[in-house]
Amino acid sequence: MKNNKVSIIGCGNIGLSLVQGLLKENIIPPKNITVTRRNIQELAYLKEKGVRLTTDNVAAIKDSDLIVIAVKPYNIIEVLEEIRSHLKPERHLLISVTAGTTLNQIQEVIGISMPVFRAMPNISASVGKSVSCICHNNEGKKNVESVKSLFDNFGTTMTIDEELMQSATILGACGIAYVLRFIRAMIQGGIQIGFDAKTASAIVNQTVKGAAELLIERKEHPEFEIDKVTTPKGCTIVGLNEMEHNGFSSSLIKGIVASYEKIEK
Ligand SMILES: NC(=O)c1ccc[n+]([C@@H]2O[C@H](COP(=O)([O-])OP(=O)(O)OC[C@H]3O[C@@H](n4cnc5c(N)ncnc54)[C@H](OP(=O)(O)O)[C@@H]3O)[C@@H](O)[C@H]2O)c1
Repeated sequence: MKNNKVSIIGCGNIGLSLVQGLLKENIIPPKNITVTRRNIQELAYLKEKGVRLTTDNVAAIKDSDLIVIAVKPYNIIEVLEEIRSHLKPERHLLISVTAGTTLNQIQEVIGISMPVFRAMPNISASVGKSVSCICHNNEGKKNVESVKSLFDNFGTTMTIDEELMQSATILGACGIAYVLRFIRAMIQGGIQIGFDAKTASAIVNQTVKGAAELLIERKEHPEFEIDKVTTPKGCTIVGLNEMEHNGFSSSLIKGIVASYEKIEK
């Protein structure tokens, strides 16, 4: 992996999270990372870290093995049209993190048979804690390990069917926003019961991290762990039931389904 060259075409929010994840892991040297966007001056600080910057997408891919396309859906066709005649199936792996654009659509624009992947990471890639769901076309079968190795720099990686990519976008990529909003609400509650914002944040952040680690390590259902915290007639169950009477689980589920319905439109 350390000898691989990676280009991030369209280095905005998610592209930058990926670059930060790569710099943090330090497996791929910065000189092997090239990033592009039209307003490249916005990323000038990355140059000091050794990352190569350019506005020239073609030059970027010519000097790369792994090409990550991270532009918005309304920009991906023009970017693919720009680079397609420079793609080398024997060298390049093309990976799109753009939501909603299918493998078939990408394949149609590039017009050549080569390994094409879609990946859905989230912004915690910047601290190496993302979950990335990936899928690939037929030609990509033999390259799964290479793409997995790249995305393992950002956290954990799992291969899914392409038909679940929209769901992965909602649960994993949008999901981080739902969790952050939950954390914000807990902090607000913490301030109301006596903590300053900084202390409340420290307690809540670690509590959320602890809850997630508990489930990841023990592989138990959340309710199994909740049962250990809820003393009969105690304060936890009173609080939890009050939250449920106010639609806590229902509002989360409805929000996830609303996001899914929006992405499917
Ligand atoms: N944000 C997330 O959490 C997240 C997570 C997973 C997947 N995604 C998906 O990733 C895609 C990008 O999302 P984002 O939030 O990162 O958007 P973003 O912040 O707008 O980033 C897209 C970048 O593409 C650049 N760009 C546009 N046209 C270009 C071109 N022709 N050549 C080179 N660069 C170009 C833009 O910069 P210039 O205008 O300077 O060119 C911009 O910085 C979306 O499809 C999104 O669904 C996002």
